[in-house]
Amino acid sequence: MSRFSEPQHPDFQRLNASVSFDRRLWPQDIAQSRAHARMLEARAIISASDRDELLAGLDRVAQELRDGSFPFAPADEDIHMAIERRLTELAGPVAGRLHTARSRNDQVVTDLAMYTRERAAVAREACTGLMAALLGRAQEHADAPMPGYTHLQRAQPVYLGHHLLAYFWMLARDRRRFAFAEREAGVLPLGAGALAGVNFDTDRRAVAADLGFAGVVPNSIDAVSGRDFALDYLGAAATCATHLSRLGAELVLWSSSEFGFAELPDAWSSGSSIMPQKKNPDAAELLRGKAPRVVAHLAALHGVIHALPLTYNKDLQEDKEHLFDAADTIELALAAATGMLAGVRFDRERMREAAGDELIAATDVADLLVRLGMPFREAHGVVAGLVRTAVESSRKLSELTASDLAAHSALLAGHEAELREILREASWLESKVSEGGTASARLAEQIALARGELDAPAAG
Ligand code: ARG
Repeated sequence: MSRFSEPQHPDFQRLNASVSFDRRLWPQDIAQSRAHARMLEARAIISASDRDELLAGLDRVAQELRDGSFPFAPADEDIHMAIERRLTELAGPVAGRLHTARSRNDQVVTDLAMYTRERAAVAREACTGLMAALLGRAQEHADAPMPGYTHLQRAQPVYLGHHLLAYFWMLARDRRRFAFAEREAGVLPLGAGALAGVNFDTDRRAVAADLGFAGVVPNSIDAVSGRDFALDYLGAAATCATHLSRLGAELVLWSSSEFGFAELPDAWSSGSSIMPQKKNPDAAELLRGKAPRVVAHLAALHGVIHALPLTYNKDLQEDKEHLFDAADTIELALAAATGMLAGVRFDRERMREAAGDELIAATDVADLLVRLGMPFREAHGVVAGLVRTAVESSRKLSELTASDLAAHSALLAGHEAELREILREASWLESKVSEGGTASARLAEQIALARGELDAPAAG
């Protein structure tokens, strides 16, 4: 018997069906059903022979899904109904007992929580891989000066290792965010039924333990309505993707002839179909280009959940593609970033030359005046005047004469030797001695900290 008097419109079926994308939840769905069947038997809700038939049938279904022989039918709305239909074909009427004390509402969110937990763990591990690559390259280039930039203008020199470690710390925080999402997804919704609980004295904690969840969602209404663990995952992924977009952007700049700071590995570059000389940083560009799509998935799922009355609404079916595509995208982006970082060749000479632009020492000259007693704002003005004189007469700061200096500041003219010392390249970096600064001793300290963070992440 059916409650309906006419068949579903084909366009409604296309709108309503999710099996084309939620089929990837089959391993979670099968694992969940196995745990559920075991619990039902343990609570004497089904018999031991029913349980065994269900488990054997689920094994056969899983085998078909694994080897690709599973016969999807046009009427299969989603993966849960497809599996139940097939289980009925293979195991007979006992299949009808599996859905005892369970609704598709708590079933689907449980699959999704399991899936989110797994992907968050994968992303967390991928962050570790990229952090290790960054730390390795940072150690290798802890002594290679390069220009640091603000407004993409040369600002102050830093060591390349210091610059690379900036990304290391971003990834360390991303890793904590993925670990957080993993924990948030680790609380079992199953057992909530449609929304109010079920008419059987089930054992949710046994199912949780069976499936590796740390506990159970305490409120059945919250359990079937909630998707914030997916928002947590997407938030972590969005921030991580945005970080990678900045790394990608810098790799694009650095590998241009204009910068000439880096050459990307061939394995992560493509050629041009028409210009034989070209080596394009496509992977780095895609780190930039992919980030907004991950951020959009986060915004979209917020939109789906926004103002949605409790509990389950079909809108929630829209959670999946956002989560899936974000996970696929961020994992690929992390792999690409790691591959490029591991293989990129830095042109230390070229970077050193760019960092040797004397104008970059302007702040250090101003600080000399400050140490001699001049207020910083005034010193800033004096040095700006010096830079202007030098630039206008096409000279370097060190080529200014004693009378040039005197024209700008008597104080400076009286300390010419110290000025000459400051204009020597090495002092610009080694003078940045504050904690977290680029001076070698501080950088060594930071590398040690990073090593600790990599091996034993701070709790987050
Ligand atoms: N395919 C559905 C989803 O992804 C499964 C849950 C359907 N539940 C329902 N009451 N119609 O959300």
